[in-house]
Amino acid sequence: MSSDIQPGTDQSDQPDQTGLTFRTLDPSAHDTDGDRELLHGWGEALSRGFHEGRPTDEHRTVWLEGARADAVRLQGFWPDTTAVASPNLPVATFASWAGGDLNVGGGRTLPLHMITDVTVSPSHRRRGLLRSLMHRDLAAAAERGHALAGLTVTEGSIYGRFGFGLATRLRSLSIDVTSRFALRPFDDPGSLEIVEPSEVWESLKTIHAERVRSTRGALAWPAFYEAFLTGRFDWEQGAPDRKVRFVLHLDAAGRPDGFASWTHKGTQDGRSTVDVGDVAATTPTAYLALWQFLGGIDLTERVRWGRAPLVDPLEWALVDPRCVTTTKVDDLLWLRVLDVVAALEARPWYADGTVALGLEDPLGLIDGTWQVTVTEGRATVVRTDAHAEVILSAETLGALYLGGVDTPTLRSAGRLGGSNEALARWGALVDGGPAPYCTTGF
Ligand SMILES: CC(C)(COP(=O)(O)OP(=O)(O)OC[C@H]1O[C@@H](n2cnc3c(N)ncnc32)[C@H](O)[C@@H]1OP(=O)(O)O)[C@@H](O)C(=O)NCCC(=O)NCCS
Repeated sequence: MSSDIQPGTDQSDQPDQTGLTFRTLDPSAHDTDGDRELLHGWGEALSRGFHEGRPTDEHRTVWLEGARADAVRLQGFWPDTTAVASPNLPVATFASWAGGDLNVGGGRTLPLHMITDVTVSPSHRRRGLLRSLMHRDLAAAAERGHALAGLTVTEGSIYGRFGFGLATRLRSLSIDVTSRFALRPFDDPGSLEIVEPSEVWESLKTIHAERVRSTRGALAWPAFYEAFLTGRFDWEQGAPDRKVRFVLHLDAAGRPDGFASWTHKGTQDGRSTVDVGDVAATTPTAYLALWQFLGGIDLTERVRWGRAPLVDPLEWALVDPRCVTTTKVDDLLWLRVLDVVAALEARPWYADGTVALGLEDPLGLIDGTWQVTVTEGRATVVRTDAHAEVILSAETLGALYLGGVDTPTLRSAGRLGGSNEALARWGALVDGGPAPYCTTGF
């Protein structure tokens, strides 16, 4: 058996886990029938946990392809014995991997420890399995030197207790593209080309890499994105997505500098509707040209987009900004600082000065007081015995980290402690820069 099995790891010190065994599976280990059955069992349990249909062979193939490419660690608790059910299905699943770059602002990136596929079977809920998996995974990630961990959530009340803060948000837009839709005049020396899924991946990758490089909060795509972004495999249909379409914007020299993907949904709520998957461009002109295109698709009255930034140039480029309605604001990335020095020294700062920062971490990973000294936009961070001047939780640090919320707001929310003077000093140091924008869900 090539899987890394650690029998009984949690049985002695965690009474609620009696009868369960923690294991880590390697998605590349499929040499024996036993390995394959455990991997398939893990996938079955995951689908059950998210109330999805049972995976088909095609689902397994695509899922394992992505998991192998990213060297994902598939973790879980398995029952030691079962009377009737298959022992291959874990009662808890948890996946994590060393993900790609996250833009932390100021043109800097840090690799993100990415966590997903968190489920606990209804038969074993609320007895500490998630807590146990999260503790061991974050401790191991910190040990391996990761400065930041991230996840996206099904419910907003679960992960604050583990030190994750709501770091980025997205808007859902509904855009009226009837005759009201018109952009202010702009010059476009480039052109547009509609391309097929098989032709688009290299351009998507290049343009997204530039988005990660230039946009605070943007995050590299995990390997599984290739299959679903290009429509090679639609998870819900369990087959290729035959309806997704792509347009590229080309600069004057014919190089792709923007893309949009969309699906015509037919009539929805009485209106002929296009759903946009993603729009990204490396220049403002390409962005506007793509929106001019999307707003001009025939037989369409409305365009919906669920991944818009909180502030979008589109609204300011329209002759009638009321064409755009915000229908929802969602959180996307939740961040957790694992290494205070590496994380804080990487991000940008906005005034010179020094503050003793008191961090409260229920998991004990970043607890303590840290002296943050900023000179010309860069911080030096060291542990200190000094009295903490500004006090916040690991969760609040995660929320503040990318600049998605500022000190006065968090203070008004009762999430920062300290004197007026210390909080003003801290705010001057930490608050500033563009709002973060992340479209990479996982
Ligand atoms: C969310 C889920 C994984 C929790 O697993 P669990 O093993 O029951 O959680 P634990 O027993 O370890 O609970 C740990 C803590 O989180 C809290 N918690 C767990 N699930 C919660 C929820 N859905 N909402 C709010 N708090 C929750 C517990 O009350 C406990 O709090 P405490 O220790 O501070 O008192 C499980 O309910 C589940 O599989 N839900 C469906 C799938 C899902 O939504 N997964 C999350 C994907 S992001």
